[in-house]
Amino acid sequence: MDPKGKVVIVTGASSGIGEATARQFGREGAKVVLAARRVEKLEALANEIGGMGTGAEALVVQADLSKLEDIQSLIQKTLDKFGRIDVLVNNAGFGRLDWLEKLDPVKDIQGQFDVNVMGVVQTTRQALPVMIQQRSGHIIQMCSMAGLVGTPTYTIYSACKHAVHGFSEALRREVKPWGIDVSMVYPGGVVTEFASHAGIKRKTKATTPKFMLLSADDVGRAVVSLVRRPRAMWIIPWLWTFTMWMNRNFNGFVDYTTINRFTIPEREEELGTK
Ligand SMILES: NC(=O)c1ccc[n+]([C@@H]2O[C@H](COP(=O)([O-])OP(=O)(O)OC[C@H]3O[C@@H](n4cnc5c(N)ncnc54)[C@H](OP(=O)(O)O)[C@@H]3O)[C@@H](O)[C@H]2O)c1
Repeated sequence: MDPKGKVVIVTGASSGIGEATARQFGREGAKVVLAARRVEKLEALANEIGGMGTGAEALVVQADLSKLEDIQSLIQKTLDKFGRIDVLVNNAGFGRLDWLEKLDPVKDIQGQFDVNVMGVVQTTRQALPVMIQQRSGHIIQMCSMAGLVGTPTYTIYSACKHAVHGFSEALRREVKPWGIDVSMVYPGGVVTEFASHAGIKRKTKATTPKFMLLSADDVGRAVVSLVRRPRAMWIIPWLWTFTMWMNRNFNGFVDYTTINRFTIPEREEELGTK
C-alpha cells in the first residue's frame, strides 16, 4: 500500500514513537488521525502536518485509550471526516517498571493492562468491521522486545506485550482472507518519554547498550515502511533476534545471567546481602 492519501490512525501520537510515526505519515501525504490525551501536543503536530505541502491532512481526536467510549468516538470521528480506515497503528502505551510487590495494584497493574492490552484489543475490535467491509486494511501493533523476552521489573509490561503478541498473531490468521494485514514491531530501547513515566531506579548499569538504542524517528520510519511491505514480526534492531533465540533455546543460561548480573545486585539491600 502506498501511504499517500491513505487514512491512518496513530494512537499515542502526542510524543515519542507515535509522534514520529504520524509525522512520517504526514511527509508521505497521508490523512493522519492523531489520538492521545494531551490535545495541545496533538494540535501542534496537526498544524505541522497540515503545513508540510505533501497533501497530508490531520485530524485531532482527544482520547483516553483505557475508555471504550473514547475509542468508539475515535473510530466514529475518523469515519465522519474521512469515510474509511486504511491503517491503524496501535502505539499508545506505557510501562511502570518495578518489583511486582511494589507496583500499585490499580494505577500500575490494572492501568497498564487497560491501555497496553485492552486499549489495543478494543481499538482493533472497533476498526475491524470497517476494514472487513472495505476488504482492505493494515493493523500495525507497537509491541516490544518485552513481548518476547521477560526481564525482572518488567513483569506487568512484559505480560501486556506478550498479550499483544498472542492477540496479533491469532488475529493475523483470522483477518487475512478479508485483505487485512497485521504487522507487529518489536523495538528494543527507544529514546522517548517512556523512561520518565516508568519510574526506573537502577543501581546497576544494566541498560540497553548505546549502539542498540533507537530514536523515535527510526521506529516511525520502520512503521511507515511496513505499510508498503507488511511483516508478521519485525525485531529492531535485528541484533535483538539473538537475545530472543538465546531465551528460547538456552532459558536456563538467560535465567542464570539475569539473576546474577541484575536481580541480585539490584535487590542487595532488601536481601541483606550487601
Ligand atoms: N521507548 C521504548 O523503549 C519502547 C520500546 C518498545 C516499545 N515501546 C512502545 O512504544 C509505544 C510508544 O511509547 P513511547 O516510547 O513513544 O513513549 P511515550 O513517548 O511516553 O509515548 C506514549 C504515548 O502513549 C500515549 N498514551 C499513554 N497512555 C494513554 C492513554 N491512557 N490514552 C491515550 N494515549 C495514551 C501518550 O499520550 P498522552 O499521555 O498524551 O495520552 C503518548 O503519546 C508504547 O506502546 C511502548 O510500550 C517503547
